[in-house]
Amino acid sequence: MARLTRMFDRIDHIGVAVADLEPAISLLQGTFGMPLVHREVVASQGVEAVLLDIGESHVELLAPLSDDTPVGRFLAKSGPGMHHVAYAVDDIDAALAKLTDDGVRLIDKTPRVGLRGSRVAFLHPAACNGVLTELVESAAGVAH
Ligand code: CO
Repeated sequence: MARLTRMFDRIDHIGVAVADLEPAISLLQGTFGMPLVHREVVASQGVEAVLLDIGESHVELLAPLSDDTPVGRFLAKSGPGMHHVAYAVDDIDAALAKLTDDGVRLIDKTPRVGLRGSRVAFLHPAACNGVLTELVESAAGVAH
């Protein structure tokens, strides 16, 4: 049965896959007026990522470093577009333990390092209504 205990605090970000960051930044920052607050190459994930603020949340633009990366394969298969949704959690270890207890299929059984020193883990889209779902625990001292 559904539990009333709330697991996630809010939507941390929506991940959008693009082939080329600059036109996407131009739209979100230039046209939509969303401040660009962070840019980082995450070599281990094969992406360059950009965060733009929207309220207390972000849009995360993801561009692959090569075709042979998860985001590169996503683009080849699906084209640019929505890639994942990320929920903020206070304690990612506790959240993953609870999800494991609840039988939710995980991609990452233990957290990996995300943007700005955050800890992140992905849940399998097959367990989340077809949506690739990420949990994010912000690094201490980083305001989201
Ligand atoms: Co993300």
